[in-house]
Amino acid sequence: MKGVILAGGTGTRLRPVTNIVNKHLLPVGPFPMIYWSILKLKEIKIENILIITNKDHLSHFIQLLGDGKELGVNLSYRIQSSASGIADGLLCAKTFIGTEKFVFLLADNIFEDSLESFIYKFENQKKGAKFILKEVSDPERYGVANIDRKSKKISSIIEKPKNPIFNYCVTGIYMYDHHVFDYIEEIVPSSRGELEITSVNNMYIEKSFVTYDILTGWWIDAGTHASLFTANKLIYEDLKKRGRKLGIYKR
Ligand code: DAU
Repeated sequence: MKGVILAGGTGTRLRPVTNIVNKHLLPVGPFPMIYWSILKLKEIKIENILIITNKDHLSHFIQLLGDGKELGVNLSYRIQSSASGIADGLLCAKTFIGTEKFVFLLADNIFEDSLESFIYKFENQKKGAKFILKEVSDPERYGVANIDRKSKKISSIIEKPKNPIFNYCVTGIYMYDHHVFDYIEEIVPSSRGELEITSVNNMYIEKSFVTYDILTGWWIDAGTHASLFTANKLIYEDLKKRGRKLGIYKR
């Protein structure tokens, strides 16, 4: 299976530093943020990874990561020409993925759990998508899953609901079959002018087959000053707990 990491966007909530530095190159613990997504994929033996970013920052990623050999992975790159939404960014992976199933990570999502059991289940899932949810106290910041009380299935996802009824956020950890690219081509921009990943995910719910799992460890979207600070705290606590013994932390 291949992996795709989205690391573009404008990082407006982390200004002013993001006026000159890509958000995903800011430090989280001892490493630039993007390392954590790469290491999570490497941990589950996904070594063929595509990084999608914007034109201005591509050379910084290449300077830092090169072909990925130093981290024990094989990296390729694509440019998203403008920050027109997560689904627009993902479309840049179409030829890289071909007809395989794959894992898609938003590079500002930092989390504790291993993806191992989720990927194992998704490998055995014949078609469709798998979403990874996390219970949060501030669902209005995220895409929120409406879970049918009887069937326990996701009936829809609402992006940043004003008055959320549920508190399971759809994290930036997605698993898709290649039909995701057909769905992206069918959706239209939202009121904020973006091709939303939530629109794509709702198409999966309507037209295909969706499963989900729930993270039990900590998870954070490090896209604001406060959450970036918390991400740093959590990573350092985690490293201390593990005594830096895990192979994935080795450079
Ligand atoms: O963190 C999980 C949440 O991520 C989900 O619950 C939401 O459904 C999903 O829409 C997304 O919400 P955010 O408001 O956090 O998205 P943000 O604009 O911060 O973008 C997430 C990542 O994608 C970030 O690392 C930057 C990258 N990105 C974003 C856009 C809009 C791109 O590379 N290109 C883009 O055009």
